[in-house]
Amino acid sequence: MTAYISPVADSTTVFKSDVFKGQVLFCTGGGSGICKAMTEAVMRHGADATIVGRKLDRLLASAEELSKATGRRCIAAQADVRDPKQLHEAVSKAIKEYGKIDFVICGAAGNFLAPISSLSENGFRTVLEIDTIGTYNTIKATLEHVRASKGSYIHVSATLHYNGTPYQVHVSAAKAAVDATSAVLAVEEGPNGVRSNVIAPGPIGGTEGVDRLMTKNQGGWSNIPVGRLGHVKDIANATIFLFSDAASFITGQVLPVDGGSEHLRGVN
Ligand code: HXC
Repeated sequence: MTAYISPVADSTTVFKSDVFKGQVLFCTGGGSGICKAMTEAVMRHGADATIVGRKLDRLLASAEELSKATGRRCIAAQADVRDPKQLHEAVSKAIKEYGKIDFVICGAAGNFLAPISSLSENGFRTVLEIDTIGTYNTIKATLEHVRASKGSYIHVSATLHYNGTPYQVHVSAAKAAVDATSAVLAVEEGPNGVRSNVIAPGPIGGTEGVDRLMTKNQGGWSNIPVGRLGHVKDIANATIFLFSDAASFITGQVLPVDGGSEHLRGVN
């Protein structure tokens, strides 16, 4: 196996290293990409974790890497978020291992580039099933545990749907629904002590989404207001903040982490 290079090892100095001591994370999509980095960041601050995804080999390798990098426990639970039964089994595995769930990241997502004119009905539906129904299924499978611990959800959305992003109708529709789902969850479950927020990553360097869109829209990121592409560390830091008690009065919000790109709406 190639040596694991942590994308977030040096990003955590402003937070107390034990801020999540004794707490437990359940993360769908945690086997790779942004969600793996979010999981690592939470673990580096004291939490144990379960990462969930479809590909068992990748999950097992990632769980081992995350444990080694952080000194915390991480287990892999194979599940397709489109299947409620598999998700309930993943939650049971997490509960058997840790006895509780404090934090949930709903991050499993699917994406490819396709114009409306050629996107099949099944292609559109598949992304909604993974992103939107997968989020709903994850909430349903975890809520009783998150209520019990008065915990918190973070949903990984996007900024694509604030404008009309070409070739992304399926993802845009799916993420708009994720934002709405989080808001309802926040309002309904606030009285039970549960918070729910959305992180909306903008263009984050080195991720599949940006690599694919950059190929299609060459030079399209040159006008990011802060003058750089995002890094997964930026998403990791937002995650720590939103899960921490520093954000205890923040729920039902969408936090774009995009270097100010959202505010270019109507300008470019
Ligand atoms: C057109 C496509 C396609 C493509 C799949 N489809 N890929 N259509 N162009 N490139 C269509 C198929 O033809 C099929 O429709 C339908 O979608 C289902 O495809 P399957 O391969 O059978 O589905 P499945 O195996 O479940 O795969 C799911 C997937 C796949 C979403 C389609 O791309 C996937 O799992 N990708 C890996 C995860 C991923 O992409 N992660 C990146 C997330 S990044 P027909 O009609 O033929 O049956 C992200 C960030 C967004 O989400 C922000 C970007 C800036």
